[in-house]
Amino acid sequence: MKLKFIFLVYLLQILSINVFAQESDVKTLIRSPLLGNCITCHQFPGEAGKQGNFAPSLIGVGKKYNLDQLKQWISDARVLNPNTLMPPFGSINGLSQPMVNQPVLTIEQINKIALELKTYN
Ligand code: HEC
Repeated sequence: MKLKFIFLVYLLQILSINVFAQESDVKTLIRSPLLGNCITCHQFPGEAGKQGNFAPSLIGVGKKYNLDQLKQWISDARVLNPNTLMPPFGSINGLSQPMVNQPVLTIEQINKIALELKTYN
């Protein structure tokens, strides 16, 4: 009984994340702790005072990389740098404890964020 309840809560959580994810605009993808959560580690234009400095600033990153490279960084940066500390948002390969049994972001969400980053010139 208790297990069924826990499973139901877990299922509802996954469903609500997905519903939330579909509706989200690019700023939500970048800010939300349930989605990209990029500003925890990166500085973004127009987000002064809210973001972390663990990772390189993304101001000007649109000049540094083309669209495919930006998608790769978000999807799975291990392809570009095997020792990277950037989490893979589009892959669960090789992860021992993925948050859920699916990548954090969908391909559509990754494409949306990459298009946004491309405008940071
Ligand atoms: C847990 C911290 C963390 C989070 C969250 C995170 N990143 Fe990163 N990111 C990093 C680190 C660390 C690097 C540098 C890694 C390296 O050089 O291999 C990096 C590198 C990058 C780069 C390449 C930057 C450059 O100048 O070369 C891009 C682009 C990027 N991240 C985009 C994103 C986006 C978009 C998100 C949200 C979907 C995100 N990151 C979330 C830690 C993070």
